[in-house]
Order: sequence, then C-alpha cells, then structure tokens
Amino acid sequence: MNGEEDIGAEYEALLQFVYMAPVGIVQVTNDGTVVMMNPTSAQLLLTIVPDGNLENLFTALAPVVPGLRELVSRDSTAIGPLCQDLRANVPQPDSREKDPCVLSLSLIRLDSTRVMALLSDVSIVAKRERELREKETWHKASLQLALDAAQAANKAKSEFLANISHELRTPMHAISSFAKLGHGKSSDAPREKLQRYFENIDGSASRLNRLLTDLLDLAKIESGKMTFTLVRCDVGRTLAATMAEFEAMAHERGVGLIGAGDLPVAYACIDEARMKQVFANLLSNAIKFSPKGSSVSVALRQGTAETGDECISVSVCDEGPGIPPDELEAVFDKFVQSTKTKTGAGGTGLGLPIAREIVAAHKGRVWAANRPDRGTEFRVDIPIGVPSAERNERMVA
Ligand SMILES: Nc1ncnc2c1ncn2[C@@H]1O[C@H](COP(=O)(O)OP(=O)(O)OP(=O)(O)O)[C@@H](O)[C@H]1O
Ligand SMILES: [Mg+2]
Repeated sequence: MNGEEDIGAEYEALLQFVYMAPVGIVQVTNDGTVVMMNPTSAQLLLTIVPDGNLENLFTALAPVVPGLRELVSRDSTAIGPLCQDLRANVPQPDSREKDPCVLSLSLIRLDSTRVMALLSDVSIVAKRERELREKETWHKASLQLALDAAQAANKAKSEFLANISHELRTPMHAISSFAKLGHGKSSDAPREKLQRYFENIDGSASRLNRLLTDLLDLAKIESGKMTFTLVRCDVGRTLAATMAEFEAMAHERGVGLIGAGDLPVAYACIDEARMKQVFANLLSNAIKFSPKGSSVSVALRQGTAETGDECISVSVCDEGPGIPPDELEAVFDKFVQSTKTKTGAGGTGLGLPIAREIVAAHKGRVWAANRPDRGTEFRVDIPIGVPSAERNERMVA
C-alpha cells in the first residue's frame, strides 16, 4: 500500500467510527448550517425538532439551548473548545414520563469556518446527580433536625436541673434553718416553740420525700422502667377509697367533696395503686385550688372514648379559678403551673405529667377543660380493655 492508500484507509476508518459512534457528532459552519451529522445526532435532535428540519443545528437547538449562534460568532480564531457539557432538558411528548430527557452539548472550533458539536443523552447521569443532590439536601435536613433535637433536649435538661435544684433547696433550707434554731435554743426556748420547729422540720422533710418520690416516678416512666400490673378491678371502689383519703383535707379547707356515695360499680383492667395516684393528684389539685365554701364533685360513668373504645370516664369538677384556655395543655408539662395559681398555692408541678404518663400506659387519656360557669373539669378516660394474657402480666410503660 502506498501513502495515499494509507490515508484513504484511515479516512474510511474514521468515517466509519463517526458513523457508528454512540455520541452525536455534527459538523457545522459558523452560522450553524449542518455540513455532516451522524445517525446518533439525528436521532437525538429529532426529539427536539418535531418537524424534522435539521438543516441548521443552532436553529434546531434554539428552543432548549438558546444563544449558540452568538457564542460561535464571538471569536472565529480561537481553535478548541467553545463550550462544554451544556445541559438541555428536552420536553417529553408523553407527559407520563417521570424523568426528563437531558442532552449534553459541547462545541469545538475546528478552524475559522467549521465547528464540531458533540451531543449525548445524559438523562441517566442527570437523574443520578439529581438523586444525589436530593439525598444530600435530605441528609443535611435530617442532620439539622437531629442537632435541633439534641439542643432542645440539652436545654430541657438544664431547665429540669434548675427546677429540681430550686425545689430541693427550699425544703432543705427550711430543715437546716429550723434544726439550727432548735439547736441554738434547745436549753432555754419554751417547749411549744421547739415543738413548732420540729413540726416544720417534719413538714419540710415530708415535702422533700414526696418530691423525691415524684422525681423517681418520672425517671422510671421516662426510662421505660415503670412497671404496671393490670388487674381487673372496680374503678368506682378505687375512686371512692381515694376520695375517703381526701375528706380530711377538704374538710380542713372548708371545701365540700361530693359524689363518693353515687359511684357505680365499673370494672376495668388497671394498676390500682398507680390509678389511685392519678385520682389523688386530681383531687388534691381540685381541693387546694378551690375557694372556701365551694364544692368539688366527682362522677364516674361508662361511655365511649374518642377512639371508639368502651371506657370508664371519671370527672373531677371544681369551682376554683379555672385555667387560662391557652394553658390547659401546658399544665401537663413538668414543673408548669398556671398563671392563675402562681401564688404559692400550687406544688411542684409534677402531679399532672406523672398522671398523664400513667393514664397513657393504660391506653387512656386525661385532659382539662374549663367549666362554662366557673372552675375546671379534669377528665380521665380509661378503656375497659379485655383482660388478655399480655395485659394481665406485668407491663412496662
Ligand atoms: N383544678 C385546678 N384548678 C386550677 N388550676 C389547676 C387545677 N389543677 C391543676 N392546676 C394547675 O396546674 C398546675 C400543675 O398541676 P400539677 O398537679 O402538675 O402540679 P402541682 O399540683 O402544682 O404540684 P404537685 O402535684 O407536683 O404537688 C398547678 O400548679 C395549677 O397551676
Ligand atoms: Mg398536683
């Protein structure tokens, strides 16, 4: 083979390559007129040009990549790449196609009059890039959420510690002060005075003890370690027994406690000691916030809960100050007292959050509502429940 034949053969091979290439290769003049194009480019361009007119590449591409003519005519001397990987979203005739067709276009100047365009379908790559971007955004958002949650938990922990320290310090301080006073005056103070000091020490110690019991209960509930032994029993009798324990307190404060005699027999699967704790807090709240001469009335009936389950419904109504409507839910948060009772009448603010957790462990609901005339109604709905094997066993909250 002589030199000319060699070149001829190589040219043939090159043409063959261009013809077969899976990438669109188009040669155009400076104004976009097509000189040569391989079948792949025709295939790709026909998705953009519905009328099939492929005489001018820049006109054909104008709907999806405008401004090519200006780009090419800017400088006809600079040989080499004019633009690389310009992306074009090609509208799909079938709108049911989820993923758009994406073309990539590169332009290379061959000489002062000719430009080569390379076209390829990068839909899959673009889809993958989009997915990665979405994943990254999602990842960032979930990281931010986790960070926000950690910060909120940290803040809640600090507030909790601050509240506890305050609540512990007050009775501790009282115990220490009265003990010191008593110690200093033990030889010459009148007997009654010393007795008062001891009573104060005893009162503060009881308060401290109750607070520690509440905190322990909360810690158990929050760590999922509180166990409930659900046994079928008469909730009416449980409620009456709790009311009996509060008769003295009500009497002392001049508050009538009504309803104990009318409580019907009503069976449900409950942990009796824990449910008593719930009733006790509702009764103690109702009595302590009630004005002298008013009444606290208690009722029990069977009905249907919001969930459609058959339930026992206990209500404790008082004629006290009520709770501002926007605080009816907040009073179930730890250490929260309503703005209407921030006079020192309240306690620590742990009774209702504990009650809510206990009722939730019974798959029930406790909430507060203001009564139309005056005072508050606290309601507890306890599903009657079928005493299944699982529920009769010890259950962890
Ligand atoms: N019957 C009620 N009438 C008016 N306000 C009430 C009533 N029951 C509860 N509250 C408000 O809700 C707050 C929270 O009640 P919760 O039982 O959790 O705490 P507490 O009684 O203050 O203290 P603790 O129960 O820990 O001794 C009370 O301090 C009070 O502000
Ligand atoms: Mg309380």
